[in-house]
Amino acid sequence: MRSVADPAIDDELELPTHFLRADPVPPATAYQLVHDELLLDGNARLNLATFVTTWMEEPAARLMAECAEKNVIDKDEYPQTAELERRCVSILAHLWHAPKPELAVGCSTTGSSEACMLGGLALKRRWSHARRAAGRPAGRPNLVMGANVQVCWDKFCNYWEVEPRIVPMEGDRFNLSPDEAVARCDEDTIGVVAVLGSTFDGSYEPVAAIAAALDELQARTGVDVPIHVDGASGAMVAPFLDEDLVWDFRLERVASINTSGHKYGLVYPGVGWICWRDRAALPEDLVFNVNYLGGDMPTFALNFSRPGAEVVAQYYVFLRLGVAGFRAVQGASRHIATRLAGRIGELGPFRLLTHGDELPVFAFTTRPEVTAYDVFDVSRRLRERGWLVPAYTFPANRTDLDVLRIVVRNGFTHDLAELLVDDLARLLPELARQAGPLRAGGADSAFHH
Ligand SMILES: Cc1ncc(COP(=O)(O)O)c(C=O)c1O
Repeated sequence: MRSVADPAIDDELELPTHFLRADPVPPATAYQLVHDELLLDGNARLNLATFVTTWMEEPAARLMAECAEKNVIDKDEYPQTAELERRCVSILAHLWHAPKPELAVGCSTTGSSEACMLGGLALKRRWSHARRAAGRPAGRPNLVMGANVQVCWDKFCNYWEVEPRIVPMEGDRFNLSPDEAVARCDEDTIGVVAVLGSTFDGSYEPVAAIAAALDELQARTGVDVPIHVDGASGAMVAPFLDEDLVWDFRLERVASINTSGHKYGLVYPGVGWICWRDRAALPEDLVFNVNYLGGDMPTFALNFSRPGAEVVAQYYVFLRLGVAGFRAVQGASRHIATRLAGRIGELGPFRLLTHGDELPVFAFTTRPEVTAYDVFDVSRRLRERGWLVPAYTFPANRTDLDVLRIVVRNGFTHDLAELLVDDLARLLPELARQAGPLRAGGADSAFHH
């Protein structure tokens, strides 16, 4: 039997992979082939690069399998899934101290990237309405943020033609400072993005101090700049472990908050959330009332069809853990992160930049005065044992700084942390024999997470 597109391949012996074969294969064969090929993927539990959930309880996985066919947009056919989504938004609005949670608006998304796009779009539209109402031009919007923002904000600015005003890193300041943020704001600023839990080193940005500086700017100049908090990770950590830290809707200037359900929201990949403090923060003309699939519903999303299983799983996690459960899970991750950071610091050749005491995430670098090798050598050697610990270069103005970063997630235990430290300690004598870094110049060290 020959395949349609490439008669040179004998389908009986070799299955085509890049075009359709002429005939079907039995399900068991197809399953085994795909299953076997995926053996080459990394081991998710040893992946200390990703923020995304790699372990869930079996009942959650079962629920997700039961919901595999549900399309979250089809709220008429799956009204109870839609109800669970609404409950999740309400839970987040309460958790993030919306002044009147019943008036907060929000939705699920595919992840924080989509949520950030929606947050940014609302800021932009709100700004342009205000400009037009004041008879002022609305053609040159800008957004102020630190150089440490995740790439989704660069995308937002690029896709929606907003000028990014980036505050570079300086010395030992690796995230946004209030003074530097305010210095870049003017009447064309649609908002400031404050990141709760920097992707680069796990540090929290000082949201309250940024808000206070913007209050002062408004008092001085009349320029009123809202804040969007990118809480992709931290918005599901701080409410449980840093209750006294004021970063959320308790600050009047915070217009919207996003988080990734699939990061410290503890759900498998595919779900994010955004919440606006009230209806005024989400201009009505961005919301589409779609009459489709048998119902009339308001939607504000970049996607239409999307799996419902992750939303259901998010509700499961909220129901299952409650406040005490979240505190225990996130607390354990932070405990493991801080202890692991301490152990790595004690090894000698490394300098910690952060300690895992905000997000359970920390960054460290080599001490050039005692090592000839660099962070890329360490990352590569750890990979030989199966550990994925990314090495990357910081953005402007600290492109001279290369770091390793470890993300501790639910499912990464003290035992695994000890094994990692043992492996790292075992590698050091060999690394110490290197005369210099092995990285042949030009290796891609850009950071994409
Ligand atoms: C601060 C921050 N914002 C946004 C994102 C993008 O999130 P997602 O992967 O859920 O789209 C990330 C991902 O790491 C992040 O750390």
